[in-house]
Amino acid sequence: MKLPLRSLRWSAPAACFVLTALADPVPVTVTVDVAHPAHAVSPMLHGVFFEDINYGADGGLYAELVQNRSFEHAEHLFAWGTVNRGGSGDVTIGTADPLNAKNPHYARLTVREAGQGFGLANYGYAGIALQAGEDYLVSVRARGDAGELTAMLEDETGRVLGRTKFAALDREWNRFESTIRSSGTALHARLVVLATVPGRADLDVVSLFPAHTFKDRRNGLRADLAQMVADLHPAFVRFPGGCIVEGMDLPNRYQWKDTIGDIAGRPQNWNRWQDAIAREPAPQYYQTCGLGFFEYFQFCEDIGAEPVPIINCGMACQYQSKQLVPLDQLGPLVQDALDLIEFANGPVTSVWGAKRAAMGHPAPFNLKYLGVGNEQWGEDYFARYRVFAAALQAQHPEIKLASGAGPGVDDKSWRLAWEKFRAGLPASVVDEHYYRPPQWFLENATRYDKQDRAGPKIFAGEFAAHDRGRRATLRAALAEAAFMTGLVRNSDVVAMSSYAPLFARAGAFQWQPDLIWFDNTRVYGTGSYYVQSLFSRNRPDVVLPVTVKAAPVPVTLLPPAAVATYGAEALPPFKPEAIPALFVAAGQDRSANEAVLFLVNPFPEPRAATIELRGSAGPAAGARAFVLTSASPDDTNTFEEPRKLAPLEEPFAPEGATFARTLPANSFTVLRIPLKP
Ligand code: AHR
Repeated sequence: MKLPLRSLRWSAPAACFVLTALADPVPVTVTVDVAHPAHAVSPMLHGVFFEDINYGADGGLYAELVQNRSFEHAEHLFAWGTVNRGGSGDVTIGTADPLNAKNPHYARLTVREAGQGFGLANYGYAGIALQAGEDYLVSVRARGDAGELTAMLEDETGRVLGRTKFAALDREWNRFESTIRSSGTALHARLVVLATVPGRADLDVVSLFPAHTFKDRRNGLRADLAQMVADLHPAFVRFPGGCIVEGMDLPNRYQWKDTIGDIAGRPQNWNRWQDAIAREPAPQYYQTCGLGFFEYFQFCEDIGAEPVPIINCGMACQYQSKQLVPLDQLGPLVQDALDLIEFANGPVTSVWGAKRAAMGHPAPFNLKYLGVGNEQWGEDYFARYRVFAAALQAQHPEIKLASGAGPGVDDKSWRLAWEKFRAGLPASVVDEHYYRPPQWFLENATRYDKQDRAGPKIFAGEFAAHDRGRRATLRAALAEAAFMTGLVRNSDVVAMSSYAPLFARAGAFQWQPDLIWFDNTRVYGTGSYYVQSLFSRNRPDVVLPVTVKAAPVPVTLLPPAAVATYGAEALPPFKPEAIPALFVAAGQDRSANEAVLFLVNPFPEPRAATIELRGSAGPAAGARAFVLTSASPDDTNTFEEPRKLAPLEEPFAPEGATFARTLPANSFTVLRIPLKP
């Protein structure tokens, strides 16, 4: 018996889901005009946004296992503990005659009786995770007269999993390094550095890295987290943010020159996310800048992504200190920007190119993009942007500039920004940000269909659908997917896009939702991660025009009403007329001669799609479907169920140039269909 769908739906929320599932899927016709390709798809369309928020760098992607390695936290012995094995002595913080001026504090061990050892233990980021049989590189800068220091890896019970002894100290600072193989696996291990004879030992930059990092780089990245990023096949990596660029105040802003060279000479900065969100204080969150601009460029090269650095434009956070560098004092900041280009691209004979070469990369990194300011707005911003743009364009016309447009769209700041661009303010791409409820993403999937093709292009530089409780639900992921069909369709004007933020450390985050969650040993992607991956890994070369014919979506099927989020006002009631019955984009992968279809059905009932590849000779063998769905739009991924929301790949055989396919309720489907020549 067929159930009369419309009369039964929504009589009771729980029951209706069952009833709609039994009903006939709603018909929809999708016609893809294979014979008349439209514009090329921007090769930069899908990238990633990286910021040291949520312990994304220190304690995250940066593989350093020691926290507070240089004793530069305000609480200088944070993450450290005294180890006294039957001796006596003191641990103090010294500043006299430091390792260098940028690293002014060190730990001093004054050992009166050594016993079985007197020294310090570092507890990493909520423990140090060790793997049996793996090698770890331990290093320390030290001086003194306490003989030979011992370094040990110990598990949480004190069992020694590996040890090494360094050469004897002398009066000058020296760097000591050794490899320790761990004999056991431990989740909450510690690194112990001990003096075993009386005397004095000054310690600084105490470091422990897994020998195996991503691409086995020294001072490298955590292999599993870096691989998650690499698996997205991002066209670019935006770095270092985000608000980190701005700083809470100007001294706190990100200064790239502090992030290169020997890690011992990189001054530590406090992380502006320490107290940016009142209910998520993180007073011990610092930036070592160990993952600095060299490591960033290297990572981009390793994963085949373009670097897109964002530089400070003489403005600190406009929500917080609002500090400004006076217009007539911007010179050094502009010079920093020019020097960054030289560091990336300059010959080894140039000042900054030589520094790159000294770090092990004589070849240029081929930087092509530069963002001037993060999420800034207002006349203060554009006055500063002009100064940077003039200097950069004069000296580096080959570099494409990204300009901010403020923290939101369709508001006063955003309108002012677009007035400026339309009046000729130079920018290759305009960085638009949207952290809005799923409803907004559905309503805005067509926003760029109407975009003026003459102005600068769009860089959707930070976005994420914020569902209730800011959970990374399937509902949020599907809303992003729906919106992204509009980015693909309009990729003649939308040049670049990146979800934000990228990483979050479980138990130590300031912001959600995020793309990738991790702890010391585990990692998973959210549903949104798989949406990004499906778009990025299936990016076609050209767009194919699509027509969709279907009855309008009944208002009862629209997702829950707007929710307020940090900084985002509640939305007005849903505009059902703005919601397509199905969200579709199509293109062609010319090298593989495949049609690629992105089909998003964010509604709680299936769609019976009749898909026509008009003007094609029909499908060849080897079609694949990738389907992301789950039982409920509230579903999320977790460490326990890391792939509850993950696409399933299935081969399928379209019956001809016109074929039928059911699009499940709450689903995102990507079809790759080889075409007959
Ligand atoms: O992605 C989190 C933050 O959101 C970024 O740091 C900032 O640019 C935006 O406000």
